[in-house]
Amino acid sequence: MASHEIKTVTLIGAGKLANHLGNALKKHGFGIPQVYNRTPSQGQRLAKKLNATYTDDLNKLSFKSDLFIIAVTDRAIPEITGRLSLDGELVVHTSGTVAMSVLSKTTQRSGVLYPLQTFTGKGLVSFQKIPVCLEAAQENDLRLLADLAGKISEKIYFINSERRSYLHLAAVFAANFPHFLHTVAADLMKEHNLPLEMVRPLILQVARNTRYEDLFDLQTGPAVREDFPVIEQHRCLLSDHPEYQKIYDLITNSIIQYKKNHE
Ligand SMILES: NC(=O)c1ccc[n+]([C@@H]2O[C@H](COP(=O)([O-])OP(=O)(O)OC[C@H]3O[C@@H](n4cnc5c(N)ncnc54)[C@H](OP(=O)(O)O)[C@@H]3O)[C@@H](O)[C@H]2O)c1
Repeated sequence: MASHEIKTVTLIGAGKLANHLGNALKKHGFGIPQVYNRTPSQGQRLAKKLNATYTDDLNKLSFKSDLFIIAVTDRAIPEITGRLSLDGELVVHTSGTVAMSVLSKTTQRSGVLYPLQTFTGKGLVSFQKIPVCLEAAQENDLRLLADLAGKISEKIYFINSERRSYLHLAAVFAANFPHFLHTVAADLMKEHNLPLEMVRPLILQVARNTRYEDLFDLQTGPAVREDFPVIEQHRCLLSDHPEYQKIYDLITNSIIQYKKNHE
């Protein structure tokens, strides 16, 4: 029987997202009766934090929940859903890439709650400004999810599985790749005894520049200037790092090509 409001949430998974989301839900008054996790240490730790009970047995999930959130690693979602029998219950996963249909055999009341943010093991992220993408098989469940998400975040979006997969792809370019490039910068700086803090204002300014619409107009550096002597100098400096040199060439050529295509 569908409820009129979500008050209680069971967490399936106790990784990075489950920790952040569980914390946000608790802070906003939701009850977390139970946490499932394959590995007891992680699951028990999160359950304790949320005043929940812990189980490592999917057959022992309590049905006293208005919502079940599957927050396990993407590859494990089909396996977990295959072992769950929650017909009549509202069940969502939190993945950017996995289609909602993965839940079709688990329940008719399936959905997705995908927060577009990077959650790490360090610090707790405030959900208030995080875009939360929602999808549900049934209209009433979409309303229930929107009510819940609206309590933890100001930014709710209704995005179907196909568009969500493009959003996730864009997020990889927006976050995961730049993060790796920051790691490369940090490596080079460390190797040449330059303090990492010197580059932090630059990284923060680049992030702030995303408030403008036409991002390519704000591109600076030798590639967009087609300053080939400097590009060649950089390539020589990277001769001991062939992997970094490949990245340098690929991105430099992409910038030059993008500029040509948009002239
Ligand atoms: N982290 C983010 O930035 C972020 C952002 C948005 C959405 N998401 C989504 O949130 C979900 C969880 O991601 P995460 O970053 O929180 O992952 P994570 O920190 O790596 O945690 C993975 C979780 O999945 C469980 N798990 C892995 N393989 C399993 C299996 N075969 N059977 C049962 N449980 C298994 C782990 O249990 P054990 O403790 O037993 O290993 C753990 O609870 C994913 O769908 C991800 O796409 C993550």
